Amino acid sequence: MSFNELAKNRFSARKYLNKQVEQEKLDIILEAGRLAPTAVNFQPQKIYVLKSEESLKKINELTPYAFNAPVVLLVCADISKSWTNPFNGRKSAEMDASIVATHMMLAAKDTGIDSCWVCYFDTEKVKEVFKLPENIEPYLLMPMGYPADGAGPSPRHQERKPIVETVKYL
Ligand SMILES: Cc1cc2nc3c(=O)[nH]c(=O)nc-3n(C[C@H](O)[C@H](O)[C@H](O)COP(=O)(O)O)c2cc1C
Repeated sequence: MSFNELAKNRFSARKYLNKQVEQEKLDIILEAGRLAPTAVNFQPQKIYVLKSEESLKKINELTPYAFNAPVVLLVCADISKSWTNPFNGRKSAEMDASIVATHMMLAAKDTGIDSCWVCYFDTEKVKEVFKLPENIEPYLLMPMGYPADGAGPSPRHQERKPIVETVKYL
């Protein structure tokens, strides 16, 4: 499958089977995240794998968007270890976490595991409940697993703006 076929086939899954993701697949997914580029190669990402009964209960109580998936990745970055752009003072932490998450999302699809990128959660509550260190900033959740019947893709999955609306050659 070409890369763009994989990108096209991926969709946000919001309904999962009660079936574990094999550790070998999870290892491949986490390794894809490890291989992602980050600003100055500082690698400030911190990925928390929520798969114990206790952790999954906690995250499902914090947001309806964990979808009772068998695994939820809590993708964070250590803001004290991320690069700061001297021109505008912006930290790269969120971008670093995002490219790591993107690698993992696509690697998951490549192994037959569907997922969803989720930002609808209270980051402060997540920090509190999972007792994350002060300098660790949560950015997204990525529930993943085998899709249940009716998981998608949603009708809007095919809706992408034409290139001319989002790309401009200068
Ligand atoms: C930054 C970001 C935040 C998102 N947050 C949520 C979310 O909180 N809940 C949810 O169900 N989907 C969320 N999504 C998934 C998008 O709604 C979805 O990717 C988009 O509608 C396109 O659909 P597709 O992924 O099936 O192609 C998020 C996606 C991104 C990139």
